Amino acid sequence: MQHLLDTSDFNDAQLQKIMDDASSFKKQMPSKLLEDKLLITLFFESSTRTRSSFEVAAKRLGASVVHLDPSKSSTNKGESLEDTFENLAAMKPDGVIIRHEFNNTPKKLAKKELTPIINAGAGNYAHPTQALLDCFTMMEHFSCKTPQELKGKTIAIVGDIVSSRVASSGIRLFDRLGMNVALVAPKPFMPDNDLPKYESLDEVIDKVDIIMSLRAQLERHKAPIFEDYDEYAKEYCITNERLGDRDILLLHPGPVMRNIDISDEMLKDKRCKVLTQVNNGVYVRMAILKAILLDI
Ligand code: CP
Repeated sequence: MQHLLDTSDFNDAQLQKIMDDASSFKKQMPSKLLEDKLLITLFFESSTRTRSSFEVAAKRLGASVVHLDPSKSSTNKGESLEDTFENLAAMKPDGVIIRHEFNNTPKKLAKKELTPIINAGAGNYAHPTQALLDCFTMMEHFSCKTPQELKGKTIAIVGDIVSSRVASSGIRLFDRLGMNVALVAPKPFMPDNDLPKYESLDEVIDKVDIIMSLRAQLERHKAPIFEDYDEYAKEYCITNERLGDRDILLLHPGPVMRNIDISDEMLKDKRCKVLTQVNNGVYVRMAILKAILLDI
């Protein structure tokens, strides 16, 4: 049974196929490849992009989608996550798409081998579909035919890296592809790893091809880290002034905190591909659903 817990669940050939399928879906919508399939979405944390993108992707391919809202489920009556999942699996869906606050939840459910699990974001550890759509967006921008052609490109990840599952999954995928990853953050937002670290973007900006800006994830901070995010923004907000006329691709997984992560003006700049990422996310998730439900 194929699951998607992190991008390492796909080998290089599968990764290439996902990028190729997403590219061809973007050119032309396919026929209803998943007409007889049914997916359940189970989001224990809030989502705008990922949940709706999966639903759009599934419906574009003709699949049915059932959404269980945990806030109105029998979780409120004390039913455990495992029991909730086993009951849903007993209805024989073709897969469950789950978002949860704990890093190991998707893996724990996948081990039961009851139905394919697709990780739509777990704790601060993994968000594989975001990493894959970011890879696709970079390939498209740099006209790469294979993910490996991104080798040697330098990406600066800027912001609350330690809280970010987008950064965690991205770093593992970008490292696998031979990209250079630089981390730019104030000390409280910096993870403990051996990647190059900078407190100021200005130290590294002339070497980067891509900037991935990240939101300060206030909901994951046990206590407020900064009293004043306007002060934080003075150093870390991506502005036209900071980028100048450099040819840098600007990404952000969303939601964007305007004028803290990226300035209003920069969000309208053609180098900023935030909505392109969202658009590409549908095609990449279509390709992922096809891979998990049909190909393997
Ligand atoms: N990028 C992302 O995960 O956004 P949502 O939290 O809105 O799904």
